[in-house]
Amino acid sequence: MNRVGVLISGRGSNLQALIEAARGGSLGGQIALVVSNVEGAAGLDRAREAGIPTETLPHQGRSREEHDREISGKLQEAGVDLVCLAGYMRLVSRVLLEAFPARILNIHPSLLPAFPGLKAQRQALDHGAKVTGATVHFVTPGLDSGPILLQEAVPVLDRDTEGSLTSRILEVEHRLYPRAVALVLGKKYRLVGRRVLTEGA
Ligand code: GRF
Repeated sequence: MNRVGVLISGRGSNLQALIEAARGGSLGGQIALVVSNVEGAAGLDRAREAGIPTETLPHQGRSREEHDREISGKLQEAGVDLVCLAGYMRLVSRVLLEAFPARILNIHPSLLPAFPGLKAQRQALDHGAKVTGATVHFVTPGLDSGPILLQEAVPVLDRDTEGSLTSRILEVEHRLYPRAVALVLGKKYRLVGRRVLTEGA
């Protein structure tokens, strides 16, 4: 059974989508550990309710590398094969990237490479984009810039506020992330340069 580790900082609705997919058998693995860098993050309760072990590892007062070394250690102890960032609000250092080479995924609420970084939905509205969406990508040293695994578009409506756009994108995220994880765990992809090929792989 493949083992997934999930890193969170907050609400954990994507974590919930992964938990449900694992329960329903469509994830291709089980969630072995949830790590939060924020004490009391709501996602920790979701994990506990699902009977998943949790760790809270605050980053304050430690270097990024020190903190990532601690996280890597916990993930390795839990026998994790794949790491999913799910609303994890920290840049990951080489320490974590080297511990899980090409084995860290992230979900981002825009069609990358448009609108990387914080407040992607606000960025799309402010830019006047007509279409935005969600992206699952492999994590590399640059911000939100690794090879793209799956994307889905979401139209920006005239009546949209940041809140309404965020919730429509979130619905897509909850479908997209479990599918992306299943592709990786099932080894149903090939990486060719920056392109992640999934057809017939
Ligand atoms: C999501 O919009 C995700 O794309 C972004 O942070 C948000 C996390 O939401 N990286 P949640 O904690 O999964 O509910």
